Amino acid sequence: MKNPPVEALQYASSMGNLLVLYTQVDQFIMEVCAERISCAPGQSARLGLAKQVGDESHHVRIQQEWLEQFDVSASPLIDEPTLEHFRAHFRGLNWIDFLTDLYLVIEALGSQAVEQIVPLADPGTRESLRIPLQDELDHVAFGMRELKMALAGLDEVQRSYIIEHIPERIEHLVTMLQQLDLPIRDWFEQVGADYPEVCSRLGQRRQELFAELVA
Ligand SMILES: [Fe+2]
Ligand SMILES: [Fe+2]
Repeated sequence: MKNPPVEALQYASSMGNLLVLYTQVDQFIMEVCAERISCAPGQSARLGLAKQVGDESHHVRIQQEWLEQFDVSASPLIDEPTLEHFRAHFRGLNWIDFLTDLYLVIEALGSQAVEQIVPLADPGTRESLRIPLQDELDHVAFGMRELKMALAGLDEVQRSYIIEHIPERIEHLVTMLQQLDLPIRDWFEQVGADYPEVCSRLGQRRQELFAELVA
């Protein structure tokens, strides 16, 4: 039997890594949202977070099942101390900062990255991403709605101060994520993505969400 070409092996291993990373991030989001339910302000926030916990657990299950079939190693790429560092970061945030970091950065980034991957993916991977992608859009919409509501409840001075500092928060968290030091660029390129284009779309998405927030 002929060995699969190098490109096919690279594709499988890099797509596998991207899927493992996505699954780990979903599990992380599930955990931080679950911790927030009891202290979220108001019923709509609590119900939204609870729904998201259910969605993310569904995504983790779908991805884990697909990874088994895809036959790649599902070993975690982000180690436990790093995850704990990120959990502590989210735990320490007030509601507005929590929403900003989770929805304007992590969820927006996750859903945009998945969108960029879908057209390049094999049919099985594409199918495994279909339900998660639909849900991620809902999650970003929920976060934006809650963030707008929370900002609307502030006086003008506080509101302007927070909005003015949102780009800085985003930059800070993006820097934290870059320190994960994973060869994400290689993985994207080995599945056929134009990495600068991926980054530029991610930046654009954050800008669009920010513009929507301050509109
Ligand atoms: Fe998810
Ligand atoms: Fe999500």
